[in-house]
Amino acid sequence: MGNTKVLVTDNLEQEGTSILKKANFEVDEKGKLSVEELEKIIGRYDVLIVRSGTRVPSSVIEKADNLKIIGRAGVGVDNVDVKTATAKGILVMNAPEGNTLSASEHTIGLILSLARNIPQADASLKTGKWERNRFMGTELFGKIIGIIGLGRIGKRVASIAHSLGMKVLGYDPYMTEEDALSLNISLMTLEGLCMQSDIISVHTPLVPETKHLLSEKQFFIMKDGVMIVNVARGGLIDEDILIKYIKNGKVRGVALDVFEKEPPLESELLKLDNAVVTPHLGASTREAQVNVARDICQQIIEAIQKKIIRNAINMSTMDEKLYEKMKGYLTLSEKLGIFLSQLLDDIPESLIIEYAGEIVNYDVSPLRAYVLKGFLERFCPVTYVNAPLILREKGIKLNEIKNKSAGEFFTTIRLEAKYSNESISVTGTVVSEKLKIVKINDFDVEAIPQGYLLICLNDDKPGLMGYIGTIIGKKNVNIASMTLGRKEKGGQAITVLNLDSEIDKQTIKEIEKFSGIWRIKLVRC
Ligand code: NAD
Ligand code: MLT
Repeated sequence: MGNTKVLVTDNLEQEGTSILKKANFEVDEKGKLSVEELEKIIGRYDVLIVRSGTRVPSSVIEKADNLKIIGRAGVGVDNVDVKTATAKGILVMNAPEGNTLSASEHTIGLILSLARNIPQADASLKTGKWERNRFMGTELFGKIIGIIGLGRIGKRVASIAHSLGMKVLGYDPYMTEEDALSLNISLMTLEGLCMQSDIISVHTPLVPETKHLLSEKQFFIMKDGVMIVNVARGGLIDEDILIKYIKNGKVRGVALDVFEKEPPLESELLKLDNAVVTPHLGASTREAQVNVARDICQQIIEAIQKKIIRNAINMSTMDEKLYEKMKGYLTLSEKLGIFLSQLLDDIPESLIIEYAGEIVNYDVSPLRAYVLKGFLERFCPVTYVNAPLILREKGIKLNEIKNKSAGEFFTTIRLEAKYSNESISVTGTVVSEKLKIVKINDFDVEAIPQGYLLICLNDDKPGLMGYIGTIIGKKNVNIASMTLGRKEKGGQAITVLNLDSEIDKQTIKEIEKFSGIWRIKLVRC
């Protein structure tokens, strides 16, 4: 396997790229690329890193045949077609924390600029005028700021606003009353916030649900003289309606760092005296850019080299602590999926995953992704990212069960493939960091899910082990370990052999001739 090839578009601080290079990744820094340019070269790369300047639509992703990760050095992933990336099994991750402070400070800078007409006064004085009456401002102390979206940046803006003596209202359907209360924010409806705020600042992601969150209905009910601030994403505010309300005097001033179309060179907003505008500078500080570059590159190295997934947009994430706790069970989950799929003749109607014991105290969604990837890879190309989607496409229903007790074990994971008239199951555990299969159907066994395993379901009668041993011995294949399980003497039984190497189909057919064997499978884990 060659080195991981990383394409970096947009400018990424070298503090990030240097750690990739140190980790032996091959890094190509191309600067900003058009969609057409990206389409031509994306097929060569394993990883793509972008900021907000590069668009990654479906036409690029469809050509990205080797791509495993799209890394966004920053928060918003609205420039990436996450849906198509997910369907193609590509992990999309962002670096959401590194620019929080810078974007919050820029927001406060714009609010102060608006309240005190700083940019306009600066421009006027530089043309030789001394217009002290024209630029009469307003104090922020005691004013009401309405913050829409109380995530990392919204909360930070709220905290600075408090220190300026402002009252903070908030609207965020995902924030609880208790959390809002602890931050001294009065949570309300969007309408309530629009009606009561002197300044409204938006801080949500741009998704279909938030597109034109501020439009006619909201502007209509706002206070006369309201000020509007957007350092999040163009598209959250309907710009045509905003312009209408600036022109009719209801909106006293607007400060925008982001626009529906960037750059907004044709926009009327650039011609309005009471619009303060900056060219998407919220994260443009050296500190923020070093932070996001380092964060995304570190995350990519961890994801590729250690399978630790942080800040994923289209997969559940695991920090290092959780990964350390889970890693044995993640491998076990994948192996059980691989193992069970090879015991089957056909795609089942449904799959049950039963998590039991201590593991149920944790988020089990990463285990699900590993089970499904292992299970599906016999049937089609699949990654941890698109495995749940492919399972649904194949019409296999998924049921998950959590059980507090794992019997004699600390934790077990059990998979069951169900058909209308039968079901096949396998249960595994981890003991002293070693993976073990402890049950196949109702039979207790002890096998290692590694290398080649020969599984026979048979009637419990003498002679089978000798018979198999002789045939396999003749083929010069060593039996590493063997386990027998039965429910009752002379009843149904199971024989599981860990083999040191593969045996061919002819040998399996020969073994199958032994009367009493009713199912035999060679499984590769
Ligand atoms: P975040 O994910 O921490 O916070 C977003 C918040 O929005 C969450 O609390 C979420 O619950 C809330 N939300 C989601 N849907 C909502 C809805 N319908 N109504 C109200 N609230 C809703 O993100 P963040 O890091 O705080 O970033 C916020 C925004 O700022 C993003 O759009 C990001 O892309 C943008 N951003 C811009 C710049 C810049 O350079 N201008 C820099 C950094 C971030
Ligand atoms: C972000 O979402 O992180 C910002 O838009 C900053 C950037 O342009 O990267």
